Amino acid sequence: MFEVRLITRDEIAAFIRVHSMVYGRHPSETYFRQANERFDEQRDSGAFDGDTLIASSVIHDFRLTLPGGSIGRAGGITNVAVQPTHRRRGALTGLMRDHMTRLHADGIPFAMLWASESLIYSRFGYGLATWTERWRLEQPRTALLIEPPAEGAVEFVDADTARAEWPDVMARAMVGRPGFAPRTRAFWETFHEDLPEQRDGASAYFHVVYRRAGSIEGYATYRVANRWPERIFANELRIREVMATDEGAARALWHFLLGIDLIGEILVDLRPPDDPLPWMLADPRRLRRNVQDGMWLRLVDVRAALAQRTYATTDSMVLEVRDAFCPWNAGRIRLDVSPEGVRVTDTDDAPDLAIEAWALAAIYLGGTRTSTIAAARGVEERVMGALQRADAIFATERAPWTPVFF
Ligand SMILES: CC(C)(COP(=O)(O)OP(=O)(O)OC[C@H]1O[C@@H](n2cnc3c(N)ncnc32)[C@H](O)[C@@H]1OP(=O)(O)O)[C@@H](O)C(=O)NCCC(=O)NCCS
Repeated sequence: MFEVRLITRDEIAAFIRVHSMVYGRHPSETYFRQANERFDEQRDSGAFDGDTLIASSVIHDFRLTLPGGSIGRAGGITNVAVQPTHRRRGALTGLMRDHMTRLHADGIPFAMLWASESLIYSRFGYGLATWTERWRLEQPRTALLIEPPAEGAVEFVDADTARAEWPDVMARAMVGRPGFAPRTRAFWETFHEDLPEQRDGASAYFHVVYRRAGSIEGYATYRVANRWPERIFANELRIREVMATDEGAARALWHFLLGIDLIGEILVDLRPPDDPLPWMLADPRRLRRNVQDGMWLRLVDVRAALAQRTYATTDSMVLEVRDAFCPWNAGRIRLDVSPEGVRVTDTDDAPDLAIEAWALAAIYLGGTRTSTIAAARGVEERVMGALQRADAIFATERAPWTPVFF
């Protein structure tokens, strides 16, 4: 067994070498500098074989929008890496156990991550909580059925304006969107650094805003990769992010982005499944939509998590929660919900549903219905009709969306 503990400042260089190597990179000077600067804002834990660091992981301090709009504290897990000389000997399991113990002790009810491979994390109680779409659209198949709003205009801004304004626009765009976890300060810094090695042959960023009555109501950040085969334009527009505080702003920005000249193909990732763009297009089949797993959520404290979100229906249901990895969550829980509030109590009453922790995490934000998961595995209906009731209890007005990859 490996020792798992927080690393010390002296161990930062070894820590960075481990996960850079595992991801096939040699760490840059910038990376060393950033890791030193951010050491106090995040928790870096490692697994050690004797004195040698052989595995890494980081917990960031995120805020997650829950159904109903309240904000939960979430540990955002990144840089999970086990040196290839030590794989499949329990180092990851040790790190995962350490995260859960640490977050639970700190009263942080959620953990979340983006997975490098989707088969790794459900064994640790993570559920696939938000779906995301990667889009590809060819010019000139981008005719829109909508007009941009009459008021306001799209204009270019410089990188300093983007740096100053984007966090506020994102904060306003996230209202009412479950699953949204805005960038922390450190992730904003990385976003705006726009390092040449991250451009993959494309330009530096261009930034535009949609401004209405003097106020920025949306932004887009994109790159252009120049392609001129046989002197015929086929540039790629690589949209990094589009954020809008309301539908008018979204319409204005898409109108602008899909109308840029000299573009052959438009690429954008991390869009929500219920985005209205397909309905704006005259020829929606031309929008190639690739659906992928988005954010994986772990309910570190199931009772606290159930109590923190809101519910649109009135019902009372007993869940038998199974959680081998975090045994403090296991047991029978009565969930009394109504639009006025929620009560979560332990009970000995017979359960309506038996549910695995990963399945509960997958339905928690409203991204997938309970009955859909039950048709596969992980949920058992103990009382007839309970699945349909659970579908109604956990339903959300809008699909959860996690637009920030970390
Ligand atoms: C994925 C990774 C962290 C796993 O670390 P590890 O120390 O080998 O994992 P463990 O030994 O604790 O494995 C725990 C269980 O998960 C399984 N598992 C872990 N990673 C797996 C993978 N990529 N594919 C299939 N099974 C995997 C193991 O087989 C083991 O199963 P078991 O308990 O039934 O025996 C490691 O292989 C790695 O660093 N990969 C490259 C980087 C990466 O993908 N990181 C994840 C970032 S989100």
